[in-house]
Amino acid sequence: MPFARRRALSSMRVLFVCLGNICRSPTAEGVLRGLIARESFDGIARIDSAGTANYHCGAPPDLRSQRAARARGYDLSALRARQFSDRDFTDFDLILAMDRQNLADIERCAPVADRHKVQLFLAYLPGSSHLEVPDPYYGGVEGFETVLDLCEAAGLGLIAQLRDQTDSTISRRAGSSVPPTTDPKTR
Ligand code: 4NP
Repeated sequence: MPFARRRALSSMRVLFVCLGNICRSPTAEGVLRGLIARESFDGIARIDSAGTANYHCGAPPDLRSQRAARARGYDLSALRARQFSDRDFTDFDLILAMDRQNLADIERCAPVADRHKVQLFLAYLPGSSHLEVPDPYYGGVEGFETVLDLCEAAGLGLIAQLRDQTDSTISRRAGSSVPPTTDPKTR
């Protein structure tokens, strides 16, 4: 399949959302950037992150998140926290919440037509015992490792699902362009 055709079919814009935008969602953003480069996946056009609260606007990710991410090869240092805004409903195709509280906060202000965009990130990690990415802010370093483990696994799940969708869209389109000539009566 030519590169240009695949890209035109899939240019998802993905936004990760947590509470403060300094631990979980910037980690998810940095990890997904790393994974799409590693996997040579061209189906995501834009990745960003935001917080439902404004406590840390303009701040870089928490140093504990940065250190844990750097140890796995992800550089979060250039990211800056911002608050989620209504514009994000038009600017993004997928809005992935880290926990159920984030999900409820975003859903509450979502236009009906955009509600389908708002999902739990770990919906892309089927079979996991975790439904949410636990908030590591008030805990120890192990919490930051759990965030990374979950972001890596769900990020790969997201890429796999988007790849499947792209491939099935391509096959459907290719199929629909083939004239139905198998019935001898119609030939
Ligand atoms: P995050 O973690 O939502 O994963 O960025 C938190 C960061 C800051 C606070 C809470 C959670 N806080 O209360 O300041």
